[in-house]
Amino acid sequence: MTTAQLDDIFSIGGDLPVHRLGYGAMQLPGPGVWGEPADRDGALRVVRAAVEQGVDFIDTADSYGPFVSEQIIAEALHPYPEGLVVATKAGLTRQGPGIWTPVGRPAYLRQQVELSLRHLRVERIDLIQLHRIDPDVPLADQLGVFAELRDEGKVRHIGVSEVSVEELRAAREIVDVVTVQNLYNLTDRKSQDVLDYATAEGIGFIPWFPIATGDLAAPDSPVADIARELDATPSQVALAWLLQKSPVVLPIPGTKSVDHLTENLGAAALTLSDEDMQRLDALA
Ligand SMILES: NC(=O)c1ccc[n+]([C@@H]2O[C@H](COP(=O)([O-])OP(=O)(O)OC[C@H]3O[C@@H](n4cnc5c(N)ncnc54)[C@H](OP(=O)(O)O)[C@@H]3O)[C@@H](O)[C@H]2O)c1
Repeated sequence: MTTAQLDDIFSIGGDLPVHRLGYGAMQLPGPGVWGEPADRDGALRVVRAAVEQGVDFIDTADSYGPFVSEQIIAEALHPYPEGLVVATKAGLTRQGPGIWTPVGRPAYLRQQVELSLRHLRVERIDLIQLHRIDPDVPLADQLGVFAELRDEGKVRHIGVSEVSVEELRAAREIVDVVTVQNLYNLTDRKSQDVLDYATAEGIGFIPWFPIATGDLAAPDSPVADIARELDATPSQVALAWLLQKSPVVLPIPGTKSVDHLTENLGAAALTLSDEDMQRLDALA
């Protein structure tokens, strides 16, 4: 077991060192992750606050808005501070609020990476993640175009999202995969085998829905009692549990609120004992 610390670092791809507790930017656009937020200034404020409070790893996607999340990040932070890593994704299309359809044809993926470069206002994307494997397109073609873009200097590292261990192994036969982003939190551990594989292989594991879209942070959270005992909040306990689960875990809690952001980042200073971890493990 590791002990989470504010200065706890993971090096993405071996050359992009980041603090393990990051920020997920999916909550920035409007409802259904669609269109502009009602409070754009508030969205800009929360992104700036994240960096001011020490976050140097932000996760976004072309499809969040679409484009809105990437544009807000660029407006809030460009020119980017030294050492900030912005990861984005391509491979899901949007036809309306809450609608997500995988498209992995290489020409589409290439177009989306070009658009992300433009929207993020960068010359190279730190980490591009295949948002979903498109079952209608050979995986070698989907990851192959990312490898081409990497060779062209437009992408630094490649990751995948929502994959099985078998798919992750297959992806690694095609390209060097430095991160995997799967749904994983205290109450949903279907991806435990993927986390175990990533831990053994030293691949970054980015758990999405780290606080179960807010359920783990609620007053009736299953971790509320343990949080009270530790003089912490439920979201801090849920995030500290993730950080201590494995040294390759990079949680990216999302929020529109500066108060929630500050609360969540407090998780990095919370140390859970072996007994706390066992009690939390038993809550699955
Ligand atoms: N790869 C994928 O397919 C995939 C899918 C989904 C998400 N993601 C990534 O994962 C990130 C995290 O997921 P997520 O943002 O959907 O879920 P999450 O981090 O588990 O939860 C976010 C929700 O919890 C609330 N919340 C956050 N902190 C809170 C606190 N301290 N107290 C009370 N409520 C709190 C937020 O509302 P407020 O705004 O009111 O704080 C928001 O509704 C996303 O931003 C995105 O980058 C990836």
